[in-house]
Amino acid sequence: MQRILVTGANRGLGLEFTRQLLARGDRVLAACRHPGKALPLTELSAAYPGHLHVLPLELDKERSIAEAAREAAAPARPRPAHGAGTTSGSRPGSAGRCCPRRRTNR
Ligand SMILES: NC(=O)c1ccc[n+]([C@@H]2O[C@H](COP(=O)([O-])OP(=O)(O)OC[C@H]3O[C@@H](n4cnc5c(N)ncnc54)[C@H](OP(=O)(O)O)[C@@H]3O)[C@@H](O)[C@H]2O)c1
Repeated sequence: MQRILVTGANRGLGLEFTRQLLARGDRVLAACRHPGKALPLTELSAAYPGHLHVLPLELDKERSIAEAAREAAAPARPRPAHGAGTTSGSRPGSAGRCCPRRRTNR
C-alpha cells in the first residue's frame, strides 16, 4: 500500500487515477480546486472510508501550493500523480514548481 497525492482529482484522468488507486488498496490524497463541489470524491470518500483525504489545491497559486504541501507532508510525504492540467492553452504539467520534472504517472 502506498500513499499517493493526485492533483486534479475531481475529474478526468485525476479522478480515474484516484478510483484505480483506491481500488488497489492505496491511500489517496485527492487534491482539487474546489473540494466542496467535488461530488465524485465525496462519493469515493464514503466508499473507501479512511483511505481518501480530499484537500484544496490551486496550482497557479503559491499560497495554495504551500498549504497543500504542508497538509500532504503530514505524517509522511506521498508519491505524486498529476492529473491537473488544461486541455488547451497552457502546457500540461506547466506548474513546474509544484510538479517534478520526473514523470511519475506510469
Ligand atoms: N485525457 C487524455 O486522454 C489526455 C491525454 C494526454 C494528455 N492529457 C493531459 O492530461 C491533463 C489532464 O487531462 P484530463 O483529460 O484529465 O483533463 P480534464 O478532464 O480537463 O481535467 C483537468 C483537471 O485539472 C484541474 N486543473 C486545471 N487547472 C488547474 C489549476 N490551476 N490548479 C489545480 N487544478 C487544475 C481541473 O480542475 P477543475 O475541475 O477545477 O477545472 C481538472 O481536475 C491535461 O493537461 C491533458 O492535456 C490528457
